[in-house]
Amino acid sequence: MTDDVAETVELRNETAKRRTFAIISHPDAGKTTLTEKLLLYSGMIRTAGMVKNRKGGKLATSDWMTMEQERGISITSSAMQFPYKGYTINILDTPGHQDFSEDTYRTLTAADSAIMVIDAAKGVEVQTKKLFAVCRLRGIPVLTFINKLDLPGRDPLELMTEVEEVLGIQACAMNWPIGSGREFVGVADRRTKLLSLFTKAAVGGAARAVMQTVALESPVALAALGEERRAKLADDLEMLEVAGNHFTLEDFRAGKISPVFFGSAFTNFGIEPFYDAFVELAQAPSARPVTPISAHGDPDTATALDPISGPFSAYVFKIQANMDPKHRDSLAFIRICSGRFERDLVVKHFHRGDLVREVRLSRPATLVAKERSTLDVAFPGDVVGLINSGFSIGDTIIAKSVAQKDAFEHAALPSFPPECFARVAPSDLTKRKPFDKGMGQLAAEGAVQVLRQWDNPTADPFIAAVGRLQFEVLQYRLRDEYSVETNLTELPYRCSGWLIGDPDTFKPSHGSVLAKDSRGRAVVLCPSEWDRGYCFKLNPDHRFVEYA
Ligand code: G4P
Repeated sequence: MTDDVAETVELRNETAKRRTFAIISHPDAGKTTLTEKLLLYSGMIRTAGMVKNRKGGKLATSDWMTMEQERGISITSSAMQFPYKGYTINILDTPGHQDFSEDTYRTLTAADSAIMVIDAAKGVEVQTKKLFAVCRLRGIPVLTFINKLDLPGRDPLELMTEVEEVLGIQACAMNWPIGSGREFVGVADRRTKLLSLFTKAAVGGAARAVMQTVALESPVALAALGEERRAKLADDLEMLEVAGNHFTLEDFRAGKISPVFFGSAFTNFGIEPFYDAFVELAQAPSARPVTPISAHGDPDTATALDPISGPFSAYVFKIQANMDPKHRDSLAFIRICSGRFERDLVVKHFHRGDLVREVRLSRPATLVAKERSTLDVAFPGDVVGLINSGFSIGDTIIAKSVAQKDAFEHAALPSFPPECFARVAPSDLTKRKPFDKGMGQLAAEGAVQVLRQWDNPTADPFIAAVGRLQFEVLQYRLRDEYSVETNLTELPYRCSGWLIGDPDTFKPSHGSVLAKDSRGRAVVLCPSEWDRGYCFKLNPDHRFVEYA
C-alpha cells in the first residue's frame, strides 16, 4: 500500500468511527448526569458523581472561569473526545443554563446529531424548544431520551404526543419503560422484544448498574415483574406495533422522526442500551454544504463537500478567551469537516470571502475538560482548539495546497434572535480606545451582538444577547482583560427580528426601533411579541426572520 492509499484508508476508517453530537435540554433535565454516565460506561471514569456536585461544592471539570465557579454553572462549552465500544465520541458540551443559549446555539452547528433530554415529569420545556428549532434549521437529526423514569412522571404515550405536537416531529419509541417511579426496573427493546432489567450496584448510580437481558416470556421476567405487569407490558408493546410510528433510518437522518428512549440517568437504568443504540443510529461526519469563495456565501451556489475526498477544511464555531489565567490566551475552536489534520499543517484562512493569510497551525489542542493536551492528528468530526490569533467566528480554513480558484467557504453561521438588549459605554471617557478594542474583540468572539441605531450610527452601541448573564460576562471581561469599567443601561426591548424589505420605508411601532447589525443588516427591536405582531400589521410589505 502506498502512503497515500494508507492515509485514505485511515481517513475513511477514522471518520466512520466518529460520533460528534451535542446534548440539548432545559436546565435540570439531566444533561450533565447523562454526559457523565457516558464517561462511566466508556470506562473514562470509574465512579460517577464527580463532574458536578453543586450541593457538595465540588467544581465541574469543565469550569474555567472564576465566575463560573462562583455561580456553579457552566458558562463555556467544551468538547470532549473519548472511545466508546469501538467508536470515537466527540461530545460538545453545550451550556445548559438559560442565559447562555447563544453559545449553545453556535456549538450545535458543529454537531452531526443531538440528544434531546426530557424530564419525564415536565415534558418539553422552553429551552428545549429553542434548541430543537436550531437543530431543525441546521438539519441535525435528534434522538430523544426521556429521563428520570425512577421518579413519578407523566405517561410515556402522553410525553411522546407532546414531542410530536410541540416540536412538530414524529416520535417513535425504540424501547418502552418497564414500570415507573420506584417500580421502574428497565426497558423493553421493541425490535428484539428483549427486556433489559437493571439492579443498582452502588448508591446514586456511582457505578454501572447490573443488567440482565431476558425474553418477555422467560421465567426471570415473570419473577421480576409478576404476571399482571408482564401482561400489561405485552399489551403496551402490542399497542405500539399497531398504533406507533414506523421508524426508518432515512427519516431519522432527514429530521422527520425522532427515535425515543426511556431511562434514568441517575440510577443508570436504560443508559447502556440507549448509548449502544445511539452510536448505531447517529451518523458519522458526512457531506457539508460549501460555497465557492468567489460567491461570497451565496447559498444558491452551494455544493456538498465530502469529508473523505475533500481537502482538509474546517470552520471556527467558537472563540474562548482566557481559559487559563496562567496563559491569558484565547482559543479558536474549529470543527473539522473534511480531510486529515496534522500538527504544523499550513492552511489558508478565509474571512467572509476574503483570503486573510496563510498560517501554520503549530499548537493545536484537544480538550478533556480542563486538561489541555497537544494533538498530532485529527479527522472529520473532531474539534480542535487553536491558539487564536486573528480568527473570527464563522471563518473557514482549508489546506494550503488548494488553489485560490478552487477555494470554498463553509456555510455561514446564522445569527440567533437576541432577547436582551442594553446600551453600554465606558465609565471613564478617556478609556474609549481600549473599550472599542474590547468590544470589537468580544463581538468577533460572539460574546454579544453589537448593534447601531439605524438613524444614528455614531451613538453608543446597543448590545444584544440571548441571555442577560452575557452582559455581566461582557462587563467582567472588559474590566478583567481591557481594564475598562463600563456603565450598562438595560433597554426595554424583549424580542427582535431581521427585516426583509426596504428599511427606509419601514415604520416601527411606537416603542420599537430599527437597528443595524455588524453586517449592515436591518434588525427590528420590539418591547414585546405583541409589538412585533403590530409592526407586521403596520408594514405588510415587510417580513421578519428569526435567524439571519
Ligand atoms: P442539567 O445538566 O440538565 O442541568 O441537569 P443535571 O444532570 O445537573 O441534573 C439536575 C438534577 O437532576 C440533579 O440533581 C441530578 O442528580 C438529577 N437527576 C438527573 N437525572 C436524574 C434521574 O434520572 N433521576 C433522578 N431522580 N434525578 C436525576 P440535583 O439535586 O439538582 O443536583 P446534584 O447535587 O445531584 O448534582
